[in-house]
Amino acid sequence: MAFPIAVLVSGRGTNLQSLLDHAGDRLRARIAVVVSNTPGAPALARAAAAGVPTAVVDHRGYRDRVAFEDALIAALDAHRPRLVVLAGFMRVLTPRFVGHYEGRLINIHPSLLPCFPGLDTHARALAAGVERHGATVHFVTAGVDEGPIVLQVTVPVLAADTPEALAARVLEQEHRILPQAVRWFAEGRLRCEAGGARLDGRPAHEVARLEDF
Ligand code: GRF
Repeated sequence: MAFPIAVLVSGRGTNLQSLLDHAGDRLRARIAVVVSNTPGAPALARAAAAGVPTAVVDHRGYRDRVAFEDALIAALDAHRPRLVVLAGFMRVLTPRFVGHYEGRLINIHPSLLPCFPGLDTHARALAAGVERHGATVHFVTAGVDEGPIVLQVTVPVLAADTPEALAARVLEQEHRILPQAVRWFAEGRLRCEAGGARLDGRPAHEVARLEDF
């Protein structure tokens, strides 16, 4: 049975779509479940269209964050994922949740971390006048957008860019680096260790380059 992964989403789900499009041989992984905190998120329809089981855990239905995350963990663990992927999941997770999936929780973020953690990254990059922008896949630790970096890709910032145009250029690359990171993890090549992310036993930030996507 292929390596089972779970994907957490909140919205439109284009990064999920990229994983769905590559699931199986290319990804070396099987998407066992897609879980959304937002009922009706377009990402859920993408999963359903691909025949992937879905679940909704609406944060608004729980008395606090702990109760919400308990339900989230139950929805995920019912499918025994070996990796959990945050693909546009818009809730901040507690250290307890992050600890439950320690070393097997990754996120895609639309900036070159550590620059521009948080929201509105493209507008902030334009306001800052940077020449290059990009996207990052990283392991998730307790601090928001702070965990060990797995893989980054850069794109140029053009003089005529709007936040939307820049976002589209970055998104195209997100759709490549996220499946790449999943594939490495499923192949056993990527690990999160005390000293950081390691690919083939070497520091990921030194050696990780797109290979397959
Ligand atoms: C992406 O830009 C991702 O990097 C960020 O949220 C956005 C989600 O887009 N975390 P989509 O739902 O995958 O289309």
